[in-house]
Amino acid sequence: MKAIVCPRYGGPEVLELRDVERPIPKDDEVCIRIMATAVTASDIFIRGSDIPLRFRIPMRLMMGITRPRRPIIGLVLAGEIASVGRSATRFKPGDQVYGLTGFGLGAYAEYKCMKETDSKHGCLAPKPSNLTYEESTVAAYGGLLALQFMEKGDIQPGQRVLVYGASGTSGTTAVQYAKHLGAEVTGVCSTANVELVRTLGADAVIDYTKVNALEPGDRYDFVLDAVGKAKTSRLKESCRASVAGKDSYASIDDGNLLLDSGRLAAMKELVEAGHVRPVVDRCYPLEEMAEAHRYVEQGHKRGGVAITVGHGVAA
Ligand SMILES: NC(=O)c1ccc[n+]([C@@H]2O[C@H](COP(=O)([O-])OP(=O)(O)OC[C@H]3O[C@@H](n4cnc5c(N)ncnc54)[C@H](OP(=O)(O)O)[C@@H]3O)[C@@H](O)[C@H]2O)c1
Repeated sequence: MKAIVCPRYGGPEVLELRDVERPIPKDDEVCIRIMATAVTASDIFIRGSDIPLRFRIPMRLMMGITRPRRPIIGLVLAGEIASVGRSATRFKPGDQVYGLTGFGLGAYAEYKCMKETDSKHGCLAPKPSNLTYEESTVAAYGGLLALQFMEKGDIQPGQRVLVYGASGTSGTTAVQYAKHLGAEVTGVCSTANVELVRTLGADAVIDYTKVNALEPGDRYDFVLDAVGKAKTSRLKESCRASVAGKDSYASIDDGNLLLDSGRLAAMKELVEAGHVRPVVDRCYPLEEMAEAHRYVEQGHKRGGVAITVGHGVAA
């Protein structure tokens, strides 16, 4: 099968399209014919050579000290079940699924074997029926991040919610989810994304390139930092100060992302009911993975970037 291999840490140029052996599912695994994967901020982190020291040591311990222990990287997938192991009962061949591979990685390939139940090596659920495979990858990553970290807010109808970083994968999901919960939503993004965030349903949009602080007395019931702690601005500090206490503020970097098929199922329902629609910025074919990494690495994607796994691309 074709796969993108990351034989060493480094820039996007280290990624190579190779022919590798197709995996066979163990008894408790399913084999997924991957139709689409995604390039996320996490993939850039895993591949990269210039990540901050405080992250580098724990990351390298988990992923491999001198080179990735699992050379086929990739965290997000959408596809169909190709075959199932002897004791796997949750899915059957032909089922359309989406999910994350967690520490198992391996989504940059035509096939991936993983447990059908949640583990640190991933989670899977039936994919939203009204989305393409590419859209489903964005829904999986954005949905897991946004739903997990917004739950802390226990958002009630009429409450004022601010999403800092409303234009990324999780931010675009969080804005729509908060609107669905009945909140009055303010999104923060840069000038280029103001219109996008408005179309997602935000009641107000603040441009972080033009505004350094919230108006005095501007208070929010819940603030979500949807871009992570590495991306900041003076306005972000002001947003953080606008809530009543620390329980009313969450960052998507507060603790590990949970690989939870229940949340994938909840996201499927939200999408199928029309409450949330994933925003796909760009799609690349598998063989242009390095180009996709170059784009995502710039840190300004709108929504998510998906990769079509064509099955049959030439090496
Ligand atoms: N807790 C966990 O285990 C876990 C797991 C995975 C990821 N994460 C976190 O999630 C982050 C990625 O989330 P994501 O993929 O949803 O985001 P993302 O899509 O990478 O975010 C890109 C967006 O960020 C905006 N942006 C860049 N700098 C900004 C700033 N200073 N202020 C406001 N917006 C800014 C960009 O808009 P502009 O072009 O307008 O600037 C762009 O639309 C990672 O970086 C990581 O921190 C956490």
